[in-house]
This record gives sequence, C-alpha cells and structure tokens, in this order.
Amino acid sequence: MASSTTSPSSFAVVVTLAILVVFTGSSSAQLSTSFYSKRCPKVFSTVQSVVKHAISVEARLGASLLRLHFHDCFVNGCDGSILLDDTSSFKGEKTAGPNNRSVRGFKVVDDIKAAVEKECPGVVSCADILAIAARDSVVTLGGPNWDVKVGRRDSKTASFSAANNIGVNIPPPTFSATQLINRFKAKGLSAKDMVALSGAHTIGQARCLSFRDHIYNDSNIDSSFAKTRRSQCPKNTDGRKVLAPLDLQTPTHFDNKYYKNLLSKKGLLHSDQQLYNGGSTDSLVKTYSNNGETFFKDFVTAMIKMGDIDPLTGSSGEIRKNCGKPN
Ligand code: HEM
Ligand SMILES: *[C@@H]1O[C@H](CO)[C@@H](O)[C@H](O)[C@H]1NC(C)=O
Ligand SMILES: *[C@@H]1O[C@H](CO)[C@@H](O)[C@H](O)[C@H]1NC(C)=O
Repeated sequence: MASSTTSPSSFAVVVTLAILVVFTGSSSAQLSTSFYSKRCPKVFSTVQSVVKHAISVEARLGASLLRLHFHDCFVNGCDGSILLDDTSSFKGEKTAGPNNRSVRGFKVVDDIKAAVEKECPGVVSCADILAIAARDSVVTLGGPNWDVKVGRRDSKTASFSAANNIGVNIPPPTFSATQLINRFKAKGLSAKDMVALSGAHTIGQARCLSFRDHIYNDSNIDSSFAKTRRSQCPKNTDGRKVLAPLDLQTPTHFDNKYYKNLLSKKGLLHSDQQLYNGGSTDSLVKTYSNNGETFFKDFVTAMIKMGDIDPLTGSSGEIRKNCGKPN
C-alpha cells in the first residue's frame, strides 16, 4: 500500500488506521452500503430484477433465498460458504444435516451471479449476493425495505462439520426458547433479534420431518391444527416429501401473521411455538402480532446485525467467479 513516495504524515495515517482496525476487532466495520457505488453502480438493480423474476415464477424462492443468507451467516460468518460444492480438499455445507435436501435457491444465486458478472466482472462477492437477495426477497413478498451493507468477500473453503454442528451453529427446530436465546446471543444477536428474525417464518415451507415431533408429541399446540397437520404427515412415512407452510395463513406474504399464529398455538415448528409458551419472549410475540410496523422495524435491525456476522474483508478470502467453486 505505502509507495516509496509516501510522505511521513500519510504513513502515520495508514498506521493509525491499521491500529484502529486491529483494536476495533470487528471487520464488519468495513461493510458499507456504498461499497459498490463506484465499483459496480448497478449491482442492486441487477440483483433485484433476477430475484423478482424468480419469485414471479415461484414465490417460495423468496423464502429459500432468505434462509440461505441465515444459514450462510450462522456457519463461520457471512462468507458465501454455503454455496460451495464439495471439492477434493473439503466436504461442503450443502449436504450437512440442517441443509441436505432442504436449502434451495442455488440456481437463482447462479443466475444473479451471471447477471452481475456481466455488469462488472470479478467485483461482487457471492456472500454479498446472498445478503442483497435476502433483502430483495423480503421486499418483493411485501416486507420492509432497508439499505444492505456490502463489502463481504467469499471464503475459499466450506465446512461440512461446522454446518452439521447444531451444538454451536445452525439451531435445530427441537430447541427450547432458552436454547434459541443462547444460540443467538453466541452469534452476537439479542433475544429480541431472535424473536424478530424468527418472523422470517412468515414465508416458506417445512418438511414433515421438521415438525413431526411437535404435532405428535407436544401439548402446546391447537388440537385441530395438530390433527390437520398429522393427516398430511403420518408417523412412519418419509418425512422429507410432504411440505407444510410455516405460516398457515399467508405463506407467500411477508407480514406479521406468523406471530398471530403463535398466539393461537398454531406455530408449525416446536421452536416457533417456544417463542410463545409462557416465557420471557411472550410479550414480544404479542407486540409483533399487534403491530406489524414494530415487527418490520426490529426485523430490519436484526437482519443488518445478522449480516454483520464475521465477514471476510480487505484481502481475506476472494471474489469467487463461480459461487459454487473456489477460484
Ligand atoms: C430461530 C431458529 C430457527 C430455527 C430452529 C429454524 C428452523 C427451520 C426449519 C426446521 C425449517 C424447515 C426446513 C425443512 O423442513 O426443509 C426452516 C425454514 C425456513 N427458515 Fe428457519 N429457523 C430458524 C430461524 C430462521 C431465521 C433467522 C431465518 C431468516 C432470517 C429463517 C428463515 C427460514 C425460511 C425463510 C424458511 C423456509 C425456506 C423455504 O421454504 O425454502 N429461519 N427453518
Ligand atoms: C443427503 O441426502 C441424500 C438423499 O436423501 C442422501 O443420499 C445423502 O446420504 C445425504 N447426505 C448426507 C451427508 O447425509
Ligand atoms: C414422540 O415421543 C416418543 C416417546 O418419547 C418418541 O418415541 C417418538 O419418536 C416421538 N416422535 C414422534 C413423531 O412420535
């Protein structure tokens, strides 16, 4: 960085900045909404048009894109690692328990990457594409808008074992409210962020496998809702084939009905209903069910915080040419 013509005073500025970066610790300080304004001025409109088109073909893809960003950020930070296929040197995250035959939307991400590469080759990371596509999905399905911070770089590797480690990373649907709160805390997110982010389950689908124990074994569930769900999700069949909406009312619309369902004990996942089960998060669920604006505001705050989890910046990582492969 410092050339031979660098003056002593500009050298001091560089050193001071370097020290600042080291002592503030978090490299997320380097993410900004304007990172691409010169490098790729049309990146946001380019991503948005591909996302909108995908959702017009299949609304659920909006949910799938939002979830990809979450599962990316909760495993070694928001570094695009979830997008990598297995290579000879590592087994990736795609087939780990929480992801295998469940996460989707990879084709849309590849389409976005192709469109963005055409616009500005080698500039925009796949990790940023996930963050932008998550926001565009929420907006397209009727949710709140916000400015996405960008400047993340892509990992050169991915970890099957980290993605599989439900003891540290992606929380399973069997978790209690306390476990959910602790897991999000460990990722730098508050209990409030956790409750607001769970509102993402206002869109999308879950496999029978993911909610079977809740509809057969739990007592904090509306009995006619449980009966309906059981009829489609028999105890002994392949629980990966049948899907049910996470929000039984409006699964392709981003609204606060998810919380209203929890008040009537119609949460689909065990972990969903845990948020309204006589504990400390009940009051927030009530607030969000009564006030969609408050939910939107807190959801946006929490999404920005989630997008700040351990990004690669500066000269770490790379800008992948193909989101599925290291360069
Ligand atoms: C609080 C802890 C969470 C747990 C235990 C959890 C668990 C799950 C499970 C089990 C599914 C269904 C997977 C399947 O059966 O294929 C699911 C789907 C989904 N999750 Fe979560 N999740 C959590 C938080 C989040 C967060 C923070 C987001 C995003 C901000 C999110 C977004 C989604 C979306 C959009 C879907 C539907 C995806 C689709 O239809 O393709 N979830 N989640
Ligand atoms: C992922 O799912 C496929 C299809 O069910 C299965 O064959 C494969 O063994 C699973 N992979 C892992 C790593 O569990
Ligand atoms: C419900 O609980 C029983 C007894 O603990 C257990 O054997 C079963 O696997 C659980 N799940 C379902 C879907 O019945």
